[in-house]
Amino acid sequence: MPDQDTQINTSKNPIRRFLDASPDGTAKTVTVALGLCLVASMVVSAAAVALRPLQERNAALDKQVNIIQVAGLYEQGIDVAKSFEAFEPHVLELSTGEFTDQFDPYKFDDRAAADDLTLSIPLQDDPASIGRQAKYVTVYLLRDADGALDKVILPVYGYGLWSTLYGFIAIEEDGNTIYGLQFYDQAETPGLGAEVDNPRWKALWRDKKLRTEDGAGELAITVAKSPPPEGRDYYVDALSGATLTSRGVDNLVRFWMSERGFEPFLKRVRAGDI
Ligand SMILES: Cc1cc2nc3c(=O)[nH]c(=O)nc-3n(C[C@H](O)[C@H](O)[C@H](O)COP(=O)(O)O)c2cc1C
Repeated sequence: MPDQDTQINTSKNPIRRFLDASPDGTAKTVTVALGLCLVASMVVSAAAVALRPLQERNAALDKQVNIIQVAGLYEQGIDVAKSFEAFEPHVLELSTGEFTDQFDPYKFDDRAAADDLTLSIPLQDDPASIGRQAKYVTVYLLRDADGALDKVILPVYGYGLWSTLYGFIAIEEDGNTIYGLQFYDQAETPGLGAEVDNPRWKALWRDKKLRTEDGAGELAITVAKSPPPEGRDYYVDALSGATLTSRGVDNLVRFWMSERGFEPFLKRVRAGDI
């Protein structure tokens, strides 16, 4: 009579047969590995789904912090939601420079609009390397205590060397003087292209002018290694060791400040219509 260990398991119950099978057997090893993969992927998927609203809230909060920062109102420990109430969001039709009430500015998704075939146009001449341009974008107005326009905060984006840089440019009430430029999403190399986030480089943008003749002339703002013919008022020194990212920033700023970007709106700002 065979001893118990070498007995062939003839039980009809498959679970019993599986449990009794040798742990070194192929079937048991593969089954356990597959089971582990299944459980792990379920846990990861459940975590991703459960955390998505939190991630979206944090991304929205980060964008608000950046808008507050580029407008120069950020201080450590402030109540972000409360400070953000100072800003007046509007959905802008780029081609006309007019606000539209077709969309809720608190819900309008600029990035989704840029990918939506009905809300965007393909770009043949595409200096910012963005592929398609949304017809509508969300802009933010900041007014002083008397209700007069203080700054406009405009979204800008374009390709650097490795990534698309998303940011905001703050323009003074004259529609021509830059108050600040700040990127909230980019993946350039730390220490090189990512120096676009360096406060010392960001400070170079303050008080630079977009166009000559108080806004009535040519677009002259330039990021380069030497000043443009129009002079230093229109010049931001390129990042050293990051010429390609700097060129990307030059391209995207000049694109968004051009007639194809915010110029129709900035004309209205300069005319005092906003
Ligand atoms: C690993 C690696 C990462 C780089 N990252 C960047 C970058 O993020 N932005 C950039 O403009 N140049 C980057 N460069 C450098 C470019 O290849 C190029 O040399 C540089 O833009 C030239 O700038 P310069 O003329 O100021 O030296 C990187 C180079 C290496 C090797």
